[in-house]
Amino acid sequence: MPNKHPIGILGATGMVGQRFIQLLEHHPWFEITWLAASDRSSGKPYGEAAKWRLDTPLPERIARMTVSPAEPAGAPKVIFAALDAAIAREMEPKFADAGCAVVSNSSAYRMAPNVPLVIPEINADHLHLIEEQLSRRESGGYMVTNPNCSTIGLVMALKPIEERFGIEQIFVTTMQAVSGAGYPGVPSMDILGNVIPYIGSEEEKMEAETLKLLGRLDGNHVTPLPAKITAHCNRVAVEDGHTESVSIKLGNKFGRPVTREDILAAWSEFKPLKPLHLPMAPEQPVEFAPQQDRPQPRLDRNRGRGMAVTAGRLRPCNVLDWKFTVLSHNTIRGAAGAAILNAELLRNLGKLDLEPPQDKSGSLESKKTIETVGGVIEGVLSVGGNLILS
Ligand SMILES: NC(=O)c1ccc[n+]([C@@H]2O[C@H](COP(=O)([O-])OP(=O)(O)OC[C@H]3O[C@@H](n4cnc5c(N)ncnc54)[C@H](OP(=O)(O)O)[C@@H]3O)[C@@H](O)[C@H]2O)c1
Repeated sequence: MPNKHPIGILGATGMVGQRFIQLLEHHPWFEITWLAASDRSSGKPYGEAAKWRLDTPLPERIARMTVSPAEPAGAPKVIFAALDAAIAREMEPKFADAGCAVVSNSSAYRMAPNVPLVIPEINADHLHLIEEQLSRRESGGYMVTNPNCSTIGLVMALKPIEERFGIEQIFVTTMQAVSGAGYPGVPSMDILGNVIPYIGSEEEKMEAETLKLLGRLDGNHVTPLPAKITAHCNRVAVEDGHTESVSIKLGNKFGRPVTREDILAAWSEFKPLKPLHLPMAPEQPVEFAPQQDRPQPRLDRNRGRGMAVTAGRLRPCNVLDWKFTVLSHNTIRGAAGAAILNAELLRNLGKLDLEPPQDKSGSLESKKTIETVGGVIEGVLSVGGNLILS
């Protein structure tokens, strides 16, 4: 199809990979031309390699495509990556070095200083960080990440509040769906009729990513939002949709006490992407459900084609200032849809026209290599004044 960007999916057979295929099926700007997964799948027709888990049919054209080895040779220039973090850590830089735009879902490089962690509605300006990557200068390629699936819903609800009133403290408890653990994920014998009050590294990711996303781009790095945050993460027997109970202490930006109506107005007026007409962007990014028993995963996760987050139960908090519930679809808004929206924004900015730069004379001091970044994120990062393991 002329004028469409050819797209590749790394980790195409997994939960998030399947969502990419579903969401890109009729996309006006992007067309899937390459699918890759592990050695277990490569060489097989996709329909045979993948155990299709979604409730829309696997497109025939995709079912017939052969799964390629996960190597840059022969891959298109725009790659959606849905790999486990340990594999992504090794593989994503190889694609960026080979001149690809790698739009990643994994946590491997989210907290790296020169890799943008972006939700288009929240911090599109952080995309500037791709210019700080060595691969960008050498081959034109780069890496962009979207946050953890539980972080996205939280930050979408917090941003309009932070912008208008300021936020000093955040207390969040999640009830996360089983699809967030990939396929086959949590054994049914562990999760049916049960709650598991532990998801490895999830609380640390939520805390660090939230402050980076709400942070300020200062030249070539992000200064995290100077707020305190604590997260409790639980796995529950829900198929799709992460629900979160949130309490917040507000800052003093507003100049007068903040009312319930002020917060509702901040959410309903929050439409930063409206002028851009990005195909994946929801019309109303934060929807408010006025019923006292909403949002609920089964009833609300597909609002805005899975790209809107739903807030509800807004009420005063006796410990902090306000509390509410927020829900988001973890494999759409929280993963594949988020990455597609990032790619749409990159296309609008002309950053998917990937040609190796002509001028390679940039000074060495200004080059921050992916390798350097990899070294940094193995250690500790200072976030909001706290030392946090990444
Ligand atoms: N599920 C969610 O809600 C969600 C939300 C946000 C972010 N994420 C992140 O997105 C990433 C993917 O998650 P998922 O839930 O889709 O996982 P998943 O269902 O376990 O899928 C993993 C994919 O990676 C492929 N893979 C495994 N080893 C490989 C290798 N050595 N080389 C190339 N490909 C390999 C698998 O291929 P085979 O089928 O051949 O093994 C499969 O396609 C993870 O980093 C996850 O944390 C997930």
